[in-house]
Amino acid sequence: MKKIFVAVCFVLFFSKIYTQEKGLSKEESKAEIKEKVAVLLSKMTLKEKIGQMNQYNGFWNVTGPTPTKGDAAKKYDHLKSGQVGSMLNVRGVEEVKRVQKIAVEETRLGIPLIIGFDVIHGYKTISPIPLAEAASWDMDAIKKSAQVAAREAAASGINWTFAPMVDISRDARWGRVMEGSGEDPFLGSKIAYARVKGFQGDHLNEVTTIAACAKHFAGYGFSESGRDYNTVDVGTATLHNVIFPPFKAAIDADVKTFMNSFNELNGIPATGNAFLQRDVLKGKWGYKGFVVSDWGSINEMIAHGYTKDKLRASEIAVNAGSDMDMESYAYVNYLETLVANGKVDIEKINDAVRRILTVKFELGLFDNPYLYCDIEREKEEIGSSKNIATVLDMAKKSIVLLKNENQLLPLNKKGQKIAVIGDLAQDKNSPLGSWRIAGEDNTAVSVLEGLKAYDQNQISYTKGVTLTEGKTDFTLETKINTENRDGIKEAVALAAKNDIVIMVLGENGFQSGEGRSRTNLDLPGLQQELLEAVYSVNKNIVLVLMNGRPLTINWANDTIPAIVEAWHLGTQSGNAIAEVLYGDYNPSGKLPMTFPKSVGQIPIYYNYKSTGRPKIPAPNMVFWSHYIDQTNAPLYEFGYGLSYTTFKYSNLKLSKTSFKKGEKIKLSFTLKNTGKYEGKEVTQLYIQDKYASITRPVKELKGFKMVSLKPGESKEVTFFINEEMLQFYSANNKWEAEEGEFTVFLGGSSKTVLEDNFMLVN
Ligand code: NOJ
Repeated sequence: MKKIFVAVCFVLFFSKIYTQEKGLSKEESKAEIKEKVAVLLSKMTLKEKIGQMNQYNGFWNVTGPTPTKGDAAKKYDHLKSGQVGSMLNVRGVEEVKRVQKIAVEETRLGIPLIIGFDVIHGYKTISPIPLAEAASWDMDAIKKSAQVAAREAAASGINWTFAPMVDISRDARWGRVMEGSGEDPFLGSKIAYARVKGFQGDHLNEVTTIAACAKHFAGYGFSESGRDYNTVDVGTATLHNVIFPPFKAAIDADVKTFMNSFNELNGIPATGNAFLQRDVLKGKWGYKGFVVSDWGSINEMIAHGYTKDKLRASEIAVNAGSDMDMESYAYVNYLETLVANGKVDIEKINDAVRRILTVKFELGLFDNPYLYCDIEREKEEIGSSKNIATVLDMAKKSIVLLKNENQLLPLNKKGQKIAVIGDLAQDKNSPLGSWRIAGEDNTAVSVLEGLKAYDQNQISYTKGVTLTEGKTDFTLETKINTENRDGIKEAVALAAKNDIVIMVLGENGFQSGEGRSRTNLDLPGLQQELLEAVYSVNKNIVLVLMNGRPLTINWANDTIPAIVEAWHLGTQSGNAIAEVLYGDYNPSGKLPMTFPKSVGQIPIYYNYKSTGRPKIPAPNMVFWSHYIDQTNAPLYEFGYGLSYTTFKYSNLKLSKTSFKKGEKIKLSFTLKNTGKYEGKEVTQLYIQDKYASITRPVKELKGFKMVSLKPGESKEVTFFINEEMLQFYSANNKWEAEEGEFTVFLGGSSKTVLEDNFMLVN
């Protein structure tokens, strides 16, 4: 046994030196890896191959239903016998080394483990939740934030993150909207690309980069009624034009892995869905990486009512293209039988193993299985001042100014008496958001701490009402206080004595995220009551929202003069918020997701279809597409966000009004800063395809540019319109642009201010 191990190691080690000495190109090293994988594969028994397709959770954290008792001993046994290819939720150099040592030194072939972890928005230095980052529309900042996450995770023994989540969602009830980039496939695709590049860098085998994972393939964000894990039923056009594009963008960024999804899609669970994984992903898109199942999702096909037992579930999953089994214990127990009885072709197993080994080679794990296990680097990298500066920058850029009547903001830096009210204002845990398993509890800078740094104002604090009751953590239901009003009186008294009140209200960090769907999007618990009570004595309120999803804050929007959307901004939350409130940073964020007025409007999104009856036919007449108790309009539209300054759009020009495939139209307009502050504006370009072989949305985002302007300054902003921007998945079942009439819209939100028409001609 030992001999084979030594021989394989020799081949692999030698080829590494050889590769370096030869200075191989990317293509050549790809060929070398292919060769090495083939050599290794030829030496593997079926059991060892299946082992590579088996992923176990570690021994401490859980991010899914807890595994059956007594697993630890079995896991160790399987590790030693080469029946485990990957582990998740093992972290820290020491712990990773411990399991890696077993894989490398005690198994026959010494194949290293790939260590996965949900590094979703930071590892220990926590970035804003992904939805917040999306509000920055700043791809460079998003990429840098992912780089920090990768650097810290990689320094802690991890070499694979289960991110980015690229699920488009139009449903704020779904708790996982916090983990994605919102509702738009174009913005979502740009962000998917930036995040993958941020995690993976240019060279996967560097000690600062980790493999990324585009998830959840596919449709998870369209769970019926916003209830997590629920059924998904979507048509071809939505699947191709809305759900798929960010996955495709992740592939364009060379994402190394995919994760499938808990949901069924049109009757077939994603995990067992050959159309998704074989036909589209590995077929049409030619994807070469591997697909991991979601936690226990192979077994869950039984509860879905799709398969009778685990044996059949394993057969379906592997044949459908799920390469690695996360925590179902299905492949490890049933694949041998399935190969023996001819239900699974050995070539399917070989293909899966090849994909997995390739990524391990690319990560450099065969050259040095302990590449990511340097205790000194772990100490230096985690929480470094550079990482903190990066997440602070990201946090500031993620903030969206929703309202600022009478320029209440920015605040004066001295001579003000400020009351800070709200449980979340002192909360050092909630800003860390939902997915921060490695983050230390209570390590965020609270809003109160951030504000206190501006010490020439007099700050007083009271909680008002308690937001949650009992313990909150990633695995538990979050209980909201709906009874105890004890602090309201004190809050009202304090507000009455102060010039300005900053109220920090919203959701606890564990009220959004996985398994945390809501049917009501109002301020949770007694916070609305508190807000109204305080308003009755002091109208100078700045409402700082901390939340993981759009909220229905109609009363606040009608009443409160200043509202700041501050999401869950991570480790540097309080500092970022204070800088924005005091005007040291002029907010430039724009909403990546529509805020509804009412839950009844959901799904609500800017790129909707017109319907046959879009407008009221005559005063008071009911026969048109509307509600009788609410307008169709959202509270805040997609792309919306204010600045302390104001911008004017004018002078839209098109170089021509019709063009042919292969040509371009140059579009320009003037953007002027008409306010008193220097500021940045995300200018947005939308296009409507007026009629086509399938109906097209009223407008779709097709470009955006961030423009910085000094007060009074103007700039000419240009975009180019080309045929690619007009393409969609048509009635011919292919991506194409159809000739015809289009409208182009420009503005600082999806409620655009300039427009013109053009044609694509033959
Ligand atoms: C289940 C989640 O859906 C998935 O996104 C995550 O990566 C896994 N659990 C592992 O924690």
